[in-house]
Order: sequence, then structure tokens, then C-alpha cells
Amino acid sequence: MAIVRAMAILKIALMGHPVLKQVAAPVGDPKSAEIGRLIENMIDTLADAAGAGLAAPQVHVPLRLVMFHVPAARACEEDGEAADEAAGGCPFIVLINPEIEVLSEDISEGVEACLSLPGLAGMVPRYRHIRYRGLDHRGDIVEREATGFHARVVQHECDHLDGILYPMRMDDLSTLTFTSETSRAREEEETEERENAEHG
Ligand code: NI
Repeated sequence: MAIVRAMAILKIALMGHPVLKQVAAPVGDPKSAEIGRLIENMIDTLADAAGAGLAAPQVHVPLRLVMFHVPAARACEEDGEAADEAAGGCPFIVLINPEIEVLSEDISEGVEACLSLPGLAGMVPRYRHIRYRGLDHRGDIVEREATGFHARVVQHECDHLDGILYPMRMDDLSTLTFTSETSRAREEEETEERENAEHG
């Protein structure tokens, strides 16, 4: 009989929780059973929440570990560059003790949301072109260049390890919005357009 691993959805810390404000500690042994379990549970939690990324402090574990993926559809957003790997999205990546190197001072503004601020989104400036490195769950070195949305996700997740949430990076807080309002406004606009079309 196959042994089925029990799925574990972890509780996500919300903005204001002290664990999201602290500087997380480096992971000592990426290959330990505890870290393996944490990674499995975070994968379940991220899949359940349908997010692009998750950092360990968001599940109340103050360690330097993040995970993310870039859906192909979003890979070329913002910069419009078909940068080799980014063009096909990026596969699921677990990054332990990550470091970011900024490769260009170019900044782009893009919409971000976060599982720790449910329902909200805002415009956040991020570096367009970075290199990141860290260890994977086997303790092997991961090193990649990233642009556009891929670079944005990495910067967002790594910020969590230093107690930074995306509103702290925003230039214009007036763009911080409940997405329910944005979609309602869009729906109203579409209805209006449809009515105008019908009447015109
Ligand atoms: Ni986040």
C-alpha cells in the first residue's frame, strides 16, 4: 500500500504580526528533516493560496527560505523582453539563504500583492534586472539571472526575510487598493461600455 503524505496547509501571518517585522536567521542545514518538512508544507500552503511566492516568515518560521514560480503568462509582463528562461516562465524554485545582486539601476513599477495582506494590491518599484543565488533543498547552489516579473517576485520574497512588506517599498500609497474595488470598477466600466454599444 502506498503511503500518502498528509497535506499540511500552514497558517499565514498577516501584516502586523511580529514575525513579519524581524530579520530572519540563516538556515543551518538545508538538508535537515525539519527543513524538508517545512518546504513540503510551504509548497502545500502556496498551492492552496494560489500565490506566486511564499517566504518562511509568512508561515511563522523566521528562517531565510523562500519559494516562488513564475507562470509563463506573466514572465514577459512589464519589460516585454523575451529573456530566454523568463520567456517560458520559471519553474518552481526553493531558495535557501538567498542573496540578490542588482545588475542594472533600471527600475520598473508593477502591481504586487501579498498573502500577508489579503485583498490588497499596489504599485511597487523594483529593479528590473538582478542575479540571485542561494541553495536548493538538496543544498546545491542555485544561481540565476532574472528580469521583469521574475525579478520582481524574487525581490518581494527576499524582502520578507528582512522584515519588509511591499507597502514599505511603494512610492505612491494612493495606488494601494482593495482588488475587490478594482474589479468592481472594471465591471462597471464594462457594463457601461456594453450599454453604450447597445444604445449607440
Ligand atoms: Ni509577500
